[in-house]
Amino acid sequence: MGEQASDFSEPQSLTQDKFDCIVSDLGRDGWSVRANFLDHERTAILAHEVRQLSQSGALRPARVGRGKEQGVHAETRGDRIFWLDQQQHTAAQRLILDEIETLRLAINRNLYLGLFEYEGHLTAYPPGTFYHRHLDQFRDAPLRMVSCILYLNEGWQEADGGQLRIFLDREGVGSHMDILPCGGMLVTFLSGRFYHEVLPASRERLSLTGWFRVRE
Ligand code: OGA
Ligand code: MN
Repeated sequence: MGEQASDFSEPQSLTQDKFDCIVSDLGRDGWSVRANFLDHERTAILAHEVRQLSQSGALRPARVGRGKEQGVHAETRGDRIFWLDQQQHTAAQRLILDEIETLRLAINRNLYLGLFEYEGHLTAYPPGTFYHRHLDQFRDAPLRMVSCILYLNEGWQEADGGQLRIFLDREGVGSHMDILPCGGMLVTFLSGRFYHEVLPASRERLSLTGWFRVRE
């Protein structure tokens, strides 16, 4: 069973800001989809920066696994990434890192997850690439608690593909929802709870992908 989940825009209430909304969704369902988390202009600047990094050869093939087993496996994932640096970043990157920090504090205040830090990378999936079904939390080092993906794609259409498919059952084999990677949308979910995958797209698919981690 699949349901298309592409329109998550909700009127913002006066008492609940976008951070509170995400926190209450996370607390209730373990996941949250928030359209227009970042405005058009800032989304476009970040997208431009990813394309520039790509053109200058700064994006690297993403790796799979940890430790000795770690490596590039295009049959598992085909994205190319640039890890953000908390010290060295552009103004647009600083702004989104600040928003993400506000979210981290809001989650900690309300859900007591003890999120300690954030790690994230700018991401480009070339057309036709994908990321097979996986969990973001490593079994032997469950430090990643909350996954957080901000999409940077203007004018994304259903025909472009590239959905994020989140499986709702714990085993990752049952019902799922498909989310279009629309620019400015932030998807948040519990890293150890939801299997998910990225379906291939017919155009380049850009995002900022990251995780809130607990202390080692
Ligand atoms: C990941 C991932 C999902 C997406 O990078 O671990 O699952 O929609 N990304 O880009
Ligand atoms: Mn993932």
